[in-house]
Amino acid sequence: MEKLYGVIGDPIGQSMSPDMHNTAFQSLGLQAVYKAFHVTPERLQSAIEGVRGLGIAGLNVTIPHKISVMKYLDEIDPLASKIGAVNTIVNKNGKLTGYNTDGIGYVNSLKEVLIDKKLENCSILLIGAGGAARAIYFSLLEEGVARLDLANRTVEKAEALVNEQLSSQSRALSLAEAEGVINTYDILINTTSIGMYPNLEEIPISLENVNENTIVSDIIYNPMQTKWLKEANDKGAITHNGLGMFVFQGAIAFEKWTGIYPDIDIMKSVITRKLGGIS
Ligand code: ATR
Repeated sequence: MEKLYGVIGDPIGQSMSPDMHNTAFQSLGLQAVYKAFHVTPERLQSAIEGVRGLGIAGLNVTIPHKISVMKYLDEIDPLASKIGAVNTIVNKNGKLTGYNTDGIGYVNSLKEVLIDKKLENCSILLIGAGGAARAIYFSLLEEGVARLDLANRTVEKAEALVNEQLSSQSRALSLAEAEGVINTYDILINTTSIGMYPNLEEIPISLENVNENTIVSDIIYNPMQTKWLKEANDKGAITHNGLGMFVFQGAIAFEKWTGIYPDIDIMKSVITRKLGGIS
């Protein structure tokens, strides 16, 4: 029997997940279909009951449900628990388990541009301290990076996040402090929405003192090249956008549902085509 998968969110109309997953199902010849469901916050609980009742095999969860959905699940994976948010649900014989594949998806996409660098030797600056930052922060810590500092407009939020874990490889900085030491990092990562459509002219932090060959990474993929990434490119940095994070989080979710790791290139080309450009 054909299996049903989907994504829940509010709004959900713009989601590119159905195209990406349906193409992957078709390319593997799997009897499965993936749909987008518009679920408002007051319908979240009944939507999850519906997953159990209808036997929906798996879901992605997006804004605004990533945190609130956790209380309706039977089990939460330890990394998702640390992050405090779930973006993937697996329904195994009626038992719903929540995972977070955003952070690992990001790390996998970052590995594509590391070339001869090794994450465990890298000094990394993460900009932002919201939900996306949490997912990437805890996933990078699992990789054992040398240094992982957090810079945020509200520095107290960065401090609170740093204080959640016991190791000493992190410190919290203001954005101005981070700008002053930007040349001491191998990788800079913007996890905020600064520079995302329609605020195309904004940048999260000045790159004036950035070193050549620093990896400058933005989790935004619309536009595919933010103003910040363009400035980085002009400075001779290696740039990396958020397209890979989106595709890899989907691929890892796909593997959790089906046991098969899909073809990343096929998924990337679907999204690139939808965005109307070259990644
Ligand atoms: P998400 O879940 O997508 O990460 P979020 O939880 O709302 O979104 O977090 C947004 C992050 O972007 C925060 O770190 C926020 O900084 P504050 O903690 O100071 O609010 C940051 N951010 C958003 N807009 C910003 C702006 N105009 N300038 C600087 N930082 C900004």
